[in-house]
Order: sequence, then C-alpha cells, then structure tokens
Amino acid sequence: MKKVGNHNSIAKKLFIGLALSLIFSLNSFAQDAAPVADDAAAPAATSGGDAVKGKELFNANCAACHKMDAKATGPALRGVAGKYDTPWLYKWIRNSSELIKSGDAQAVKVYNENNKAVMSAFPQLSDSDIDNILAYTSEPKVEAPAAAAGTVAVPGTSVSDSGISNNIILGALALVMVVLVVMLFLVNKVLSKVAKVNGIEVEPKTATTPIWKAFVRNQFLVLVTAIFLLLASAYFVYGFLMQIGVDQDYAPIQPIHYSHRIHAGDNEINCKYCHSAARVSKNAGIPSLNVCMNCHKNIGEVAESTATPEYSKAFYDEQIQKLYTAVGWDPASQSYTGKTQPVKWVRIHNLPDFVYFNHSQHVTVAGIECQTCHGPVQEYEIQKQFAPLTMGWCIDCHRKTDVKMEGNEYYTKIHAELSKKYGVEKLTAAQMGGLECGKCHY
Ligand code: HEC
Ligand code: HEC
Ligand code: HEC
Ligand code: HEC
Ligand code: HEC
Ligand code: HEC
Repeated sequence: MKKVGNHNSIAKKLFIGLALSLIFSLNSFAQDAAPVADDAAAPAATSGGDAVKGKELFNANCAACHKMDAKATGPALRGVAGKYDTPWLYKWIRNSSELIKSGDAQAVKVYNENNKAVMSAFPQLSDSDIDNILAYTSEPKVEAPAAAAGTVAVPGTSVSDSGISNNIILGALALVMVVLVVMLFLVNKVLSKVAKVNGIEVEPKTATTPIWKAFVRNQFLVLVTAIFLLLASAYFVYGFLMQIGVDQDYAPIQPIHYSHRIHAGDNEINCKYCHSAARVSKNAGIPSLNVCMNCHKNIGEVAESTATPEYSKAFYDEQIQKLYTAVGWDPASQSYTGKTQPVKWVRIHNLPDFVYFNHSQHVTVAGIECQTCHGPVQEYEIQKQFAPLTMGWCIDCHRKTDVKMEGNEYYTKIHAELSKKYGVEKLTAAQMGGLECGKCHY
C-alpha cells in the first residue's frame, strides 16, 4: 500500500517539475522577444554646454523650423556641431542673413541647398546659450523602446511587432501540453509494470454512486433545474432578438486611429470645424483629408505627453504618417507628391433606408448638443455608437423635449394655435407632430 502512494506522488512531482520548467522557459522566451532599446546614432563632437538648458532654448527658438532627426523648414540639427566649426555656428545662428550677404562661401552653400529659405536671426543668444543648444543637438538619439509595444496595443489587431504571432505561441503551448500528457501516460504505465513485477496489487477503485445518478433520482432537483434552464434561455433568446439591428456601442477599428479625445477633448477643436455639414444639412459628414492638413502640415508628430499607457507616442506618430501617405504629403520636402490613396473610414451610425433623420433640424433648429445623441465624444479614444438609434429612442426624446420657439418666427403662429389646442405654454416635439409616422418614414 505504501509503495502505491509513492507511485502517485512520483507522477505528481514529475508533472509539477515539467510545468515549472515550462513556465520558466516561457518567461525567458518573453524576455528574448522584448524590444531592445538601442542607442543608435553616435554623438557628434560635443561642446561643453548644458544639454538640458539647450533643450529648452531649442524648443523655444528653433523647434518651429528644425527637428532633431528630420528635415522641416530647416535641416535636421542632430550632430550639426560636428559639421561646422563653432565660431562659424555662432555667427550663423546670430544672423545667418548677414553671413550670407558677406559672401561667406559655406553660408551661401547652406542657403542654396535649402531652397534659399530664410532663417530668423537670434542676436540675443550668448555664446554659452549656443553652446547649450549645440550640446543638446549633439546628444545621441534614443530609440523609444515603446515603439514595438505601441503597435501591439491596438485592440483587435493580431499583428505583433516582435515577429512572433500569438498563434505560434499558442500552437507551441498546445504541443507541449500534448507531449506532457503522453509522458505522464507512459510514466504511469511503466510504474504500474514495476509494481506488478514487485508483486504489489494496485487497489481497484471502489464504486460509488455517480453524482448524475444521484441527481436524476432527486425529482425535485430535476424540476427546479429544468425551470431555471427554461427561464434563462428565454431571457437570452429575448435579449438576442431585441439586439437585431441595434448596434449600440459599435466601435470598429478605423484605417487611421483617429482620436476624438485628443482633437475634440485635449485640443478643444469644435465638432463643427470638421463636421461642418451638421449645421446646414441632413448629414453631418466626415471631413475631407484637406481639412486635416490645415493643421497637420505643421503637426507631424505628437508631444511626448500625449502618449498614454495604452498608446505610445510612436504609435500616434505612425498614424499621422498614414495620413501623410493618404494625402500624398512628403514631410521631408514639405510638398505634395500627387500620389493619394483614399482613407476608407468605417461608417458607425447607420439608420435603415426607410427612416428620415436630419442633422440641421436637430442641431440648428432644435439646438440640441451633439453629445446628447452621440455621448461624450470628446472623451472617446475610439469613436463608437452611443445611442441605440431605435424608434423608441427617437420617440422618447420627442415626447420629452420642448421645441425651441424663441427667436424662431416660423413657430410663432403655430405655437399660438397649438398651445391653445393643448392648453399648455410649452410644446414638445411630439405635440408638434413629431410622432407622425410620415415625418420619420418615407
Ligand atoms: C524661421 C525658421 C528657422 C528658425 C526659427 C531657425 N532656423 Fe536654423 N535654419 C533655417 C533654415 C531655412 C536653414 C537652412 C539655411 C537657409 O536656407 O538659410 C537653417 C539652417 C540652420 C543651420 C545649418 C544647418 C546645416 O546642416 O547646414 C543651423 C546650425 C541652424 N539653422 C541652427 C538654428 C538654431 C540653433 C536655431 C534656434 C536658435 C534655428 N536654427 C532657428 C530656418 C530656421
Ligand atoms: C479634427 C476633426 C474632427 C473633429 C474636431 C471632430 N470629429 Fe468627429 N470624426 C472625425 C473623423 C475623421 C471621423 C471618422 C473616424 C472615426 O469614426 O473615428 C469622425 C467620426 C465621428 C462620428 C461617427 C461617424 C459615423 O461613422 O457614424 C461621430 C458621431 C462624430 N465624429 C462626432 C463628433 C463630435 C460630437 C465632435 C465634437 C465633440 C467631433 N466629432 C469632432 C473628425 C472630427
Ligand atoms: C485644428 C487642428 C487639427 C485638425 C483640423 C486635425 N488635427 Fe490631428 N492633431 C491635431 C493636434 C493638436 C494633435 C495632437 C498633437 C499632440 O498631442 O502633440 C493631433 C494629433 C493627431 C493624430 C495622432 C493622435 C491620434 O488621434 O491618433 C492623428 C492620427 C491625427 N491628428 C489625425 C488627424 C486627421 C485624420 C484629421 C482630419 C480628419 C486631423 N487630424 C485634423 C490637430 C488637428
Ligand atoms: C438628435 C440626435 C442627434 C444630434 C443632436 C446629433 N446627431 Fe449626429 N447622428 C444622429 C443619428 C440618428 C445619426 C445616423 C444618421 C443616419 O444613419 O442617417 C447620426 C450620424 C452622425 C454622423 C455620421 C455621418 C452622417 O453624416 O450621418 C456624424 C459624423 C455625426 N452624426 C456627427 C454629429 C455632430 C458633429 C453633431 C453636433 C453638431 C451631431 N451629430 C448631432 C443623431 C444626432
Ligand atoms: C435628443 C432629443 C431627440 C432625439 C433623440 C431625436 N429627436 Fe427628432 N426632434 C427633436 C426635437 C426637439 C425636434 C423639434 C425640432 C423643431 O423645432 O422643429 C425634433 C424634430 C424632428 C423631426 C421634424 C418633426 C416635425 O414636426 O417636422 C423629425 C423628422 C425628427 N425629429 C426625426 C427624428 C428621428 C428619426 C430620430 C431618431 C433617429 C430623432 N428625431 C431623434 C428631438 C430629438
Ligand atoms: C421620431 C421618428 C419616428 C416616428 C415618428 C416613427 N418611427 Fe418608425 N422607426 C423609426 C426609426 C429610427 C426606426 C428604425 C429602428 C431600428 O432600426 O431599430 C423605425 C422603425 C420602424 C419599423 C420597422 C420595425 C423595426 O423596429 O425595425 C416600423 C414597422 C415602424 N417604424 C413603423 C412606424 C409607425 C407605424 C409609425 C407611426 C405610428 C412610426 N414608425 C413612427 C423612427 C420613427
């Protein structure tokens, strides 16, 4: 008997050991796959300035025209201290136009290479200020380690930047499980053979009443369970039927991850700046990409502080690049290439064809806020359908909402007549005819 107990515990130990080694191997696997931050781009010659102060000065004076690693209005400035000698840079930065006019060969060359764009003069900067800026521009480039994580963070997409898709990992796990089961089976077989050879009887299991038999014998329990199951399924079937055609909370992945939180929330851009048609026509419309470029000619990347734990700066910057690809904008030369590809936004709100809904009627005439029907859009990272858009939803609001009569001549006469008819001061949209089938149905 004692040895039999041993046999079980050996199998158990073996299993735990295997499981542990599996966990450890997975852990080291994950570490291998983690993106490695590399400090690329070796620094050019460093001048003895303070890079932190330099960064402030750079952001305040130069960032409007220069980026560290990409061409903007002026050339990229990383490593510029290694390109020219410092006295020349002092002169250039304080007043480049003067230097060009004086006929300095190097200055004229830089000027011509950059399409003769004019750089502002900075006579107020001292030598040490400029040293600080140059120290900042001489810092090595740090790759954001979040670059890979950012793309993984898109909910719903299964591509992972580490190159190892989740499916392969799952497959490997399944394989390991199968191997484990087979091994356990074999070990069990060998151990029972050993036991047999040693003349030890493995005790057969004593038969007890299976739980389902006990259950079937208890008629009351069966009845209660049957009723419960029937009610539950009726509940779910009803819920499912009521869901047909109702797409509340529908939030598809868009071709460009466009965040209303960042635009309408953080940057307080008015809804009607982009959805300008909502005021005057039936449809609110999605803005054309030219509207985006009013701002994005100059906004090629987001600020460090815009990144969230879920979406990295690298992820957002990539989205703006998608916008550039779509409109055919080359940020390096600051010009359109002429190669465009339309962005296919996925339509979220969609009433059936037999329903008539008009934005201007609700937004301009009734003065209803967009948020009443679309929810707190300025907080949405991903746009979604807030309202159910059912007939009951429309009717409910028409019953409850008073029509805005003030300052609307069209209503003055109707109001006088109808308020007499209903004997009330205020009229709801319903009393104005907002429940008539023909108003909403073609
Ligand atoms: C109004 C836009 C503008 C601002 C602001 C500006 N620059 Fe420039 N910068 C340019 C342009 C344009 C060029 C290219 C030369 C030309 O066309 O005059 C240039 C060229 C340079 C060059 C030569 C780069 C090379 O690789 O040849 C340096 C160095 C430079 N700028 C430093 C600065 C510093 C430092 C600041 C901030 C204190 C600054 N710039 C602010 C527009 C600007
Ligand atoms: C900078 C431009 C811009 C601003 C400002 C803006 N939107 Fe949008 N809106 C878009 C774009 C682009 C889309 C399509 C992509 C998407 O659905 O996220 C969109 C989609 C929508 C949709 C879903 C459309 C559909 O397919 O059914 C609604 C609703 C909406 N916006 C409401 C608002 C409201 C309300 C505000 C103000 C709080 C607002 N938007 C501000 C650009 C903008
Ligand atoms: C009125 C100016 C303005 C307009 C118009 C505008 N944007 Fe932006 N956009 C911004 C600002 C500001 C930021 C954030 C910059 C930051 O955080 O540093 C931004 C950030 C972004 C980002 C990165 C964050 C995100 O939302 O994923 C994308 C992508 C983007 N815009 C796309 C668009 C598209 C597409 C349109 C046109 C439908 C558009 N923008 C119109 C000002 C604008
Ligand atoms: C009374 C409710 C209501 C108000 C207020 C409202 N919307 Fe809508 N919105 C809807 C409905 C319903 C749809 C679906 C229309 C359809 O499918 O024909 C819709 C659709 C949209 C769409 C999808 C594209 C389109 O043109 O159909 C956008 C974008 C949109 N609304 C933006 C806005 C903005 C911006 C405002 C504020 C200026 C606003 N809405 C105010 C109910 C409303
Ligand atoms: C948030 C409240 C609200 C919601 C939701 C709403 N409406 Fe309205 N609707 C109004 C108000 C208020 C008026 C009266 C506007 C006016 O002054 O003419 C109105 C007027 C109308 C009218 C014109 C009625 C007439 O007498 O000429 C139509 C048609 C209409 N709505 C259709 C719809 C449809 C379709 C939906 C649902 C998809 C809907 N509305 C959802 C508030 C709402
Ligand atoms: C305020 C606007 C409005 C009025 C008034 C209105 N309906 Fe509707 N009706 C809707 C909307 C919106 C839908 C689409 C609902 C959906 O897609 O779930 C709809 C859907 C329907 C449907 C299709 C069934 C369904 O639920 O999808 C029928 C039938 C219908 N309406 C009949 C009527 C009749 C009859 C009247 C007059 C008594 C009427 N409606 C008045 C807005 C209205």
